[in-house]
Amino acid sequence: MEKIKIKINGQEVEVEQGKTILQVAKELNLHIPTLCNFEPLLPQGSCRICLVEDRGKFVTSCTTQVAPNMDVKLDTPDVIASRNLILQLLFTERNHYCMYCEASGDCELQKLGYEFGLDHFEFETYERKFTVDNSHNYIVIDPNRCVLCRRCVRACSQLAGHNVLGEMNRGIDTTIIADMNVPLGESSCTSCGLCVQVCPTGAITDKRSYYFGKDIQTEEIYSNCDQCPVGCGVKIYKKKGSNFIVKIYGDFDKENEGILCKLGRYAALFEEKSRLTSAKIKDDFGFKKIDFDGIIKTINEKMEDSVVYVDGSLFNEELSLIKKVFKDRVFSLYENEPPIESNVSIDDIKSAKDYIVIGVDLNREYGVIGSFIKRKIFSKNGRLILFDSNYNSLKNVANYVFGIDELESGLEKLKDLDSPIIIYKNLSEKETEILSKNKNFRFFYLPFETNSIGLLKENIKHKIEKSKNIIFIGKNLQGLKDIAKESFTIVFTPYETDEINKFDLLIPINDGFEREGSFYNVDGKVINKAKVLDSKFETFDLKAILEELIKVKSL
Ligand code: SF4
Ligand code: SF4
Ligand code: SF4
Ligand code: FES
Repeated sequence: MEKIKIKINGQEVEVEQGKTILQVAKELNLHIPTLCNFEPLLPQGSCRICLVEDRGKFVTSCTTQVAPNMDVKLDTPDVIASRNLILQLLFTERNHYCMYCEASGDCELQKLGYEFGLDHFEFETYERKFTVDNSHNYIVIDPNRCVLCRRCVRACSQLAGHNVLGEMNRGIDTTIIADMNVPLGESSCTSCGLCVQVCPTGAITDKRSYYFGKDIQTEEIYSNCDQCPVGCGVKIYKKKGSNFIVKIYGDFDKENEGILCKLGRYAALFEEKSRLTSAKIKDDFGFKKIDFDGIIKTINEKMEDSVVYVDGSLFNEELSLIKKVFKDRVFSLYENEPPIESNVSIDDIKSAKDYIVIGVDLNREYGVIGSFIKRKIFSKNGRLILFDSNYNSLKNVANYVFGIDELESGLEKLKDLDSPIIIYKNLSEKETEILSKNKNFRFFYLPFETNSIGLLKENIKHKIEKSKNIIFIGKNLQGLKDIAKESFTIVFTPYETDEINKFDLLIPINDGFEREGSFYNVDGKVINKAKVLDSKFETFDLKAILEELIKVKSL
């Protein structure tokens, strides 16, 4: 980029044309206060707190690009007085009595108050009361705390691509609304929670974190979500000295660009599944508790006549140990081979122009991939062609919608597609054949389970074998019901489900952020998940059991 010379605070500096005054000041380690600005969102200059002086004129540094001969002054008495006045007005316009606010301690408006030494309200406060929107399962919107920075609106559309939030009315009556002014809980909100993460005040908060801990009371742990094979980067705020996660934020420095879906942001916080709390074995009188040594002894006795089924929830380290113990008797309970191999990555998804999605509701199942596509559609930089005969929440944003049985005829009609990326999960043989014929297509396979690729790397494929004893290790017991009827069945799983009592030995294993390990994401990259919590139940570390079995076998 071309370099130009400008003056900042009297010093001549060479800077890159195209950058804003704020960006240049940051590079020079010069502080300018900001509020509405939030990279990577496009700046919009609504709060005015970042104003600076250029040759006698005030300009907002977040929206003004550097230009030749600028003479920028960051902290003249007039600039400071104006910022002070702006801040006073922001505090006055709505209810900013910090001691009653959940965001107090973490609020950017409050921090500015401290920075500017505000110790009283200069003007009479505007006493109008706005209704709090508590209709959403996870999120509360309190317009009384809103500074109208529109970070939430921009994040919801520019980053997450959901386009739910907007604004209504003008001036001091402006409020943030969902869709056409419906309660957030009844809106098209996908519960991605990005608006909560970017809101600088207590205007958008999440119900589970509410009053459970300020940032200063938490430690930040970087990890990854393993709810699906996208493997988004997360920043976990764990309360110091406790076994409690206060909130989960998206990591802006990872491929997911800070975006998460409902599962990544809230599944670990609002755990609804019932847990298997201790190990038990069935005898003639029902179930009785069993300890670690009893588990090892029973598995050892049954091992010779066993087939082992696993699912794709297991980490690479666990799969490798399972193979070591059970060798070639390990199979995937579910189909795990792609109908057509992927030949593009998440980065290609971000930059493509035409997308053909086949039979998968991205919003519900692979939310962040859905975000990357939707934001291209909304900004008119991409087209979405959907083939799905079932309900699909992408139908109202797609440019063309066809039934799945119209695959061949629909593709015939769309001749002007620009190297489209086909996004799919399951494909029938016929669909695979139709798609494989077209050399112009690129393919992005979404595995059904988080670590389906890890299973294949360990050469664990789907197959059902008859056997006297069955061992199942994983979370999804659906496919086990029919094959386990005649056998002695040992189940390693975290959850207590209706069908679980049909099996013979039940071993509760750690789940969620109680586990650590690695898996392969959709791009085939190794993603690491850190352990954050200790289990509250008498669960077992799967690796410890497998290592003990290896030890016993080698004696
Ligand atoms: S949770 Fe996500 S989809 Fe819902 S309003 Fe906030 S940013 Fe938009
Ligand atoms: S709700 Fe929060 S992010 Fe949205 S405009 Fe208000 S203060 Fe800004
Ligand atoms: S897209 Fe997948 S990895 Fe990302 S937050 Fe959602 S469930 Fe987790
Ligand atoms: S930060 Fe520049 S106008 Fe708000």
